[in-house]
Amino acid sequence: MDNRIQIFDTTLRDGEQVPGCQLNTVEKIQIAKELESLGVDVIEAGFPVSSPGDFNSVVEISKAVTWPVICALTRAVEKDIDVAAEALQFAKRKRIHTGIGTSDYHIKYKFNSSREEILERAVHAVKYAKKYVEDVEFYAEDAGRTDEEYLARIVEAVIKAGATVVNIPDTTGYCLPEEYGAKIRYLFEHVDGIDKAIISTHCHNDLGMATANTFEGIRNGARQVEVTVNGVGERAGNTALEEIVMILKCHPSAGLYTNINTRKICPISRMVSNLMNMSVQPNKAIVGRNAFAHSSGIHQDGVLKNAQTYEIIDPKDIGLDQNSIVLTARSGHAALKYRLEVHGVRLSDERLDQVYREFLKLADKKKEVTDDDILMLAGDKRSDDHHIKVDWVQATSGVGMKPVASIGLDISGEKFEAAATGNGPVDAAVNAVKKIISKPVTLTEFTIQGVSKGSDDTCKVHMQVEHGGGMYYGFGCSTDIVAASIEAYVDALNKFSAV
Ligand code: KIV
Ligand code: ZN
Repeated sequence: MDNRIQIFDTTLRDGEQVPGCQLNTVEKIQIAKELESLGVDVIEAGFPVSSPGDFNSVVEISKAVTWPVICALTRAVEKDIDVAAEALQFAKRKRIHTGIGTSDYHIKYKFNSSREEILERAVHAVKYAKKYVEDVEFYAEDAGRTDEEYLARIVEAVIKAGATVVNIPDTTGYCLPEEYGAKIRYLFEHVDGIDKAIISTHCHNDLGMATANTFEGIRNGARQVEVTVNGVGERAGNTALEEIVMILKCHPSAGLYTNINTRKICPISRMVSNLMNMSVQPNKAIVGRNAFAHSSGIHQDGVLKNAQTYEIIDPKDIGLDQNSIVLTARSGHAALKYRLEVHGVRLSDERLDQVYREFLKLADKKKEVTDDDILMLAGDKRSDDHHIKVDWVQATSGVGMKPVASIGLDISGEKFEAAATGNGPVDAAVNAVKKIISKPVTLTEFTIQGVSKGSDDTCKVHMQVEHGGGMYYGFGCSTDIVAASIEAYVDALNKFSAV
């Protein structure tokens, strides 16, 4: 059996299902190109039937990328497969990923069907997809909770129907590592013709075991892993690409390897985090801000004497540039361009000029501008097409006084002003906006996070608002908490017509 593990990246499909973290087509192309230079084998570019935006992204990524296989997701439905085939028309190497729920929970409650009928639908979907492409992957959704014997029958049937890859998702993140590994082993022991297809892992992290489960899957014969950068994905996310790749690099005794250029791991991690506006948790394995920060005196002493005392990975191997130049108000265009390029961000001259102007404004407020700051500025074009814009906001708060805020909004060219009080400056500013907009809006989520460190730090704000039964997400960033919060609030309001 070949010991190379194929990396199937689903950041742009399963990863992008995170509420509030959606990417536009240009951003998806940027990530797809970076995934290509990282060396992934397959890019799952979207679910074309789900929206015109997803369809278009699959088309454009297919045109932009050369080497990786471009994969499009479908349900086991003919229309989905027709649309996926059309979206993949420009892909140099293409794959349709079709499938259906196979656990009794899915068969009974989702489909009100029977095991026999689901098996027939699975086989039909694979045969139907084969009319369009040679490379067809089948997923048995909720395989983690599917009866082993039945799963083996399905896997055997879809391979016979022509599936080249069979995906065994632990959709709910339920399995224990030993259990998931045993499931894969069972298939190798009981499925006739299993050598004609590649078995793939697809693990979710609901119990924090996605990486462990994926590792057990490949130890037991799977040769493709479905992963996302930074482990992004619905709920607790998917298996993190960087974790599984570095496990294999750090443990050559496992005898398994990937084609990934590990020096590109940090740049793509930052790119995904910035374009999705989704911070990486500081203690995240491999790519977290603290993953190589030694704070205890004993550890620092050891690392200075010999890094191997407390470091199992050379930071350079994952592209962590510890000698990063700190940018200040005196830094020029070239320094900004260089730092952005280190992180895989290449901008047109015109866009670089815009970002440079924003950089100078930020550098006026912050002594040292970090890589995180400039990456945020480079991804920040959110308000260009907003019909509600914040002209200005002012807030006063403190001890022994009632917080008060006033705001000026530009709504499709018309100017509005209002003032309000609240239990803090953000609450007061939000109340002032509410006085201007006439529709009922409820703030249902509000998170603030610093980007790096220091009281002069830039903060990122995520907000979710509810309006007319729909949920809308907004993002803002600034060195000023009130400005970032109002930017996020107004960004969310712009997602529907709030006036
Ligand atoms: O988690 C899952 O089961 C999936 C499938 C659609 C592949 O994402
Ligand atoms: Zn999934």
